[in-house]
Amino acid sequence: MAERKVMERNDELIQKQYVYIDKVKEITAETVNIEGRQPTYEVRVFGCQMNELESEQLSGMLDAMGYTKAAPGEPADVIVFDTCCVRENAEEKIYGHLGLLKPAPGDKKSIVAITGCMMQQPHVVEKIKKSYHHVGIVFGTHNLYTFPELLYKHLTQKKRIFDVWDSEGQIVEGTPITRAEKVKAWVHIMQGCNNFCSYCIVPYVRGRERSRKKEDIISEVKRLAGTGYKEITLLGQNVNSYGNDLGRKDAFADLLYALNEIDGIKRIRFTTSHPKDLSDSLITAMKELPKLCEHLHLPFQSGSTRILKEMNRKYTKEQYLELIDRVREAVPGISFTTDIIVGFPGETEADFSDTLDVVRKVRFDQAFTFLYSKRTGTKAAEFENQVPEDVKKERFQRLIEVQNSIGAEINKTYEGKTVEVLVEGKSRNNDAMYTGRTRNYKLVNFTSSEDVTGKLVQVKIVKAWPFWLEGMVVPEGETS
Ligand code: SAH
Ligand code: SF4
Ligand code: F3S
Repeated sequence: MAERKVMERNDELIQKQYVYIDKVKEITAETVNIEGRQPTYEVRVFGCQMNELESEQLSGMLDAMGYTKAAPGEPADVIVFDTCCVRENAEEKIYGHLGLLKPAPGDKKSIVAITGCMMQQPHVVEKIKKSYHHVGIVFGTHNLYTFPELLYKHLTQKKRIFDVWDSEGQIVEGTPITRAEKVKAWVHIMQGCNNFCSYCIVPYVRGRERSRKKEDIISEVKRLAGTGYKEITLLGQNVNSYGNDLGRKDAFADLLYALNEIDGIKRIRFTTSHPKDLSDSLITAMKELPKLCEHLHLPFQSGSTRILKEMNRKYTKEQYLELIDRVREAVPGISFTTDIIVGFPGETEADFSDTLDVVRKVRFDQAFTFLYSKRTGTKAAEFENQVPEDVKKERFQRLIEVQNSIGAEINKTYEGKTVEVLVEGKSRNNDAMYTGRTRNYKLVNFTSSEDVTGKLVQVKIVKAWPFWLEGMVVPEGETS
């Protein structure tokens, strides 16, 4: 009964937005009649995969409202920013972009709308209100799905609209979506984060953990398979705690078993995992499920147990290394990627050596390395022993050098081998090549005389580059 109520509520919430979609559609239809052209949009996305997916929802809503995507470089009628605030430089970049959009007198004005994590911070909204008058609509992460309503109000009331909710509501199903890719798709399984790592702003701007219902996820993945998608990546800030809020244990592994059964889907990935929550049932699933790819993104942040405690990460250096060993034993050949923060408050040279030690011991295929950035509102921002910028940068440089040489050495071992690649299309940088990834997430660019987009092909690696592999397709039926 309770579940049914939630369903109805979801339907009500989303139906209301479809009414606004139709109303905006009438307005855009007028532009088509009067100006003989369809109004255009651009969505500029910053930040993580969560935002990538939500920017596809923003595009979906705009397409449904009668807008069409602007050609690259062409000024659009509506420009939507989907923002990130995880580090200070992310915010600075966005202010830079916004500043460049300030219209000169007499310019045809675009409607500028901003959403995403950065807007969940009241001081940012104040700044936009005061100093960026060309921004017409501001909304947050919790009410992204209400964009049609906000755009309609802006178009008809001709005034600036600010609507940021300070707490999360339920997950709303049924928002339109226009996906950027045809072969692989992002799928939300949960929103929010309960972990409050002391450096991190995400729990403040994304709210508490809320899981989507298993049936909703399964139906979405079935629909994706039905339209030809081959790979899905399940998204959440901490996918291993999927289902905790629904009162279910081992719900994530259980979901993976169910998704593995869906015909047409060839590969399943997920991100991100928190080492403290990576369960035995997940390791077993990774061992048993043929579609689950042999790659794990497992951020460790720091190798120093003392710093990890200050970060509120709830594991030690030794526990992390032991976890890696257990996963490696269960899934031979698995590749690991990670996130690392350098220069967390109080980090000494000895702490940093522990970080280098973990990098050397695990031998990650790739590491996303970040300079610690102070985020207002987080616990670590109050810590007094901030590390000087020059010390942070020097450590950062050393870390990158160690990691880059490990990554290059791992890549070198692929030369001469044949790997399975799911082909995503032509390479962005080289039209003569196709691009895709191996099951363990290696980026491969390769030549092929036929268009193999969307196919799983065998590729012989002829050369290893530091961050990708170069190869040639092995024609079907030929063994290498
Ligand atoms: N939920 C994911 C990712 C969160 S944000 C996870 O827990 O893994 C992605 C990465 O940004 C984090 O893993 C962390 O390495 C980095 N990050 C977060 N806050 C940061 C800060 N204040 N300064 C520097 N890096 C930060
Ligand atoms: Fe941030 Fe930690 Fe949550 Fe990841 S798990 S989003 S790093 S608070
Ligand atoms: Fe950035 Fe928000 Fe993702 S702060 S990293 S876009 S969850």
